[in-house]
Amino acid sequence: MNRRSFLRVLGGTGAAAAIGVPLLTGIRGSESTGVLLPSRRRLPDPFIRPLPIPPILTPVRSDATGDHYEITQRPGTAEILPGIATPIWGYDGMFPGPTIVATSGRPVVVRHRNELPVPVAVHLHGGLTPAESDGFPTDLLYPPGGRALPPSGPVSSSPGHVHDAGGHSAGAVAVGTRDYTYPMNQPAATLWYHDHRMDFTAPAVWRGLAGFHIVRDATETGLPTGDRDIPLMIADRSFDADGSLLYPSIDPTLLHTPGVTGDYHAGVLGDVILVNGAAWPTATIPRARHRLRLLNASNARRYRLALDPARPLLQIGTDGGLLPTPTPHDHIDLAPGQRCDVIVDFAHYPDGQHVFLHNLFDSGPTSQVMRFEVATRIADTTRVPDHFPTASPPATPTAVTRTFHFQRDNGSWNINGLPFSPGTPIASPRHGTTETWRLMSDFHHPIHVHAAQFEVVSRGLGAPSPLDLGPRDTIDLRPAEEVTTRVHFGPYPGRYVLHCHNLEHEDMAMMAAFTLT
Ligand code: C2O
Ligand code: CU
Repeated sequence: MNRRSFLRVLGGTGAAAAIGVPLLTGIRGSESTGVLLPSRRRLPDPFIRPLPIPPILTPVRSDATGDHYEITQRPGTAEILPGIATPIWGYDGMFPGPTIVATSGRPVVVRHRNELPVPVAVHLHGGLTPAESDGFPTDLLYPPGGRALPPSGPVSSSPGHVHDAGGHSAGAVAVGTRDYTYPMNQPAATLWYHDHRMDFTAPAVWRGLAGFHIVRDATETGLPTGDRDIPLMIADRSFDADGSLLYPSIDPTLLHTPGVTGDYHAGVLGDVILVNGAAWPTATIPRARHRLRLLNASNARRYRLALDPARPLLQIGTDGGLLPTPTPHDHIDLAPGQRCDVIVDFAHYPDGQHVFLHNLFDSGPTSQVMRFEVATRIADTTRVPDHFPTASPPATPTAVTRTFHFQRDNGSWNINGLPFSPGTPIASPRHGTTETWRLMSDFHHPIHVHAAQFEVVSRGLGAPSPLDLGPRDTIDLRPAEEVTTRVHFGPYPGRYVLHCHNLEHEDMAMMAAFTLT
């Protein structure tokens, strides 16, 4: 059965109505579009695990062509819950994967080796990357000898999904290893890399295939660095009785069990919040200024992050780079895929203060994210400038305006009524140009455009929200909302995608190919 006939079956059996039920019955109403998947074990005590910091990957070689890295994707275990070894899939067997630290303007080449039982595709989220290295969802890297695997491998797919047996022939396939080349002609920013295989991104990321990729440049001089520049990958997960990761498709009995676990097409929400792969961790930090690189790597959950006791979060950067003017917020909203770079001066707290990072969108366990224990004061020579140099004035848009509707109908998530078809571009803008895109939603859809950065021009009838400002690659579309953006396309022609970053929606075909000509 291919995707289209699958969708027809769904539409034709009245499943659309069934899917509609849980859409807005996630946690506390409507802050996330998704359905809670309850863990089958007692939730762990919070603030036991120390905050892990993913190791910074060392290049195997650095020369005039750039920094060369190697990563092996393989099964491993991680201590997510205190004292429990949870099986994961990881980059170098780790969750999160190792952090790549790049320098703006200096190419990075990553040789990925696949030792997982399934094919993979690696996407550098936020990267302005040539198409052949962008991790197009059908540009698969198979394990050695694994070309014979069915596209789904031995592991089943996202909730209720049936793989598209036909679509895979459209991609550029590699076996064993694949080199991804990133020119890094882009400013300092917090990027991340994760799996992007068609129809199977949600379960692969849930199992651990995600890591940071940080770009640095000289404009950051003076900001906190080293131990005081902390990437925080926030993600929710649920656990089985034995401590393994629970996901609807990993255990098919969770699928379509009316009244028991619900139907997860709307998105999977976990009941345990992880930061850097540890459940509700604690970080002991000196009383000084810190840079926190917040990333929402969750499949479907949105967060409203705030400190308790309250202190402003001074935003210095967003998805694509630093803001022209650092801006204080009392909370930061993050939809899946989005990043926010903030400075927190912990010197304003007394010695020994416990400072909680809360998620104001929820009550109960998922309202907690992590805890900082403020140790003693240290000399602090860091500073935050009033302004960061702006790269270049925003380009003038062409006359082209395009409208994209992100919606569910006939039982499926789609864009302008079309489910993902890898070989059918929905638009063919010219590379290096700027277009006006109007994005319209029915439910929450965090929309991500590859090979582009955009500015939000308006939200609904009003101006962009303060949190929309700066160069974005992922926008938080809320129910029944229209947002106008100016999309600046990257410098490389070729085939890319735009999609919803609710990963269950993405796997359920809320994605479109576009071609930069
Ligand atoms: Cu973070 Cu196309 O994905
Ligand atoms: Cu969506």
